[in-house]
Amino acid sequence: MPIRAVLFDVYGTLLDVHSAIAREGKELGPTADAVSRLWRQKQLEYTWVWSLRGAHRSFRALTEAALDFALTSHGIHSAVLRDRLMTAYEKLDAFPEVAEALTALRAQSRCLAALSNGDPDMLETGLQAAGIRTSLDAVLSVAPLQIFKPDRKVYGLGRAWVGAPAEEITFVSANAWDAAGAAGFGFRTFWINRIGQPEEYDIAGHATVIGSLRDLVAHVA
Ligand code: LAC
Repeated sequence: MPIRAVLFDVYGTLLDVHSAIAREGKELGPTADAVSRLWRQKQLEYTWVWSLRGAHRSFRALTEAALDFALTSHGIHSAVLRDRLMTAYEKLDAFPEVAEALTALRAQSRCLAALSNGDPDMLETGLQAAGIRTSLDAVLSVAPLQIFKPDRKVYGLGRAWVGAPAEEITFVSANAWDAAGAAGFGFRTFWINRIGQPEEYDIAGHATVIGSLRDLVAHVA
């Protein structure tokens, strides 16, 4: 079966969502890690709840609401820190292996695109700041659909862009719930498990588990 394109999740897969607090949250001291994790967890929860309610808010607005919740939960009330962290979120670091892996995939003449919950301008700015935008042929955002992953319409957007059957499209995510959604849609899916997370969503039965994006290059060669 030919591979027509490789689609990538962005937040947590190409870009490290914890790099905002790692860079700008030093004053949080030992709670930094817990705040960052709660921020991410709430951000995702809000995307799912808004989607199930059939209502919509932009990814940026939900990211901001999640940060407010995380900071307030830890008794932190600093508008200056909040603004600094939101600014940092617009320019997250790419994971260390990402640029090189995307370059290697480009060298294989692969068609590459991002498929993300992010707002279009957030994605463009973030991927550009991380130095990887030029490695991607397209950046697809859920924004026009007004619904978030793992709704099937989102994966359908990726399939429509490629213009090929789902089984000829590779999808890559470090978010197990996203990888499970993509595999259920019919994409040939890779789950990146960089930090040895426990398996969930029966993911190993439906996706190929890899340790980093570097491993993908050999798999699709
Ligand atoms: C994204 C979220 C899932 O980039 O991280 O779509």
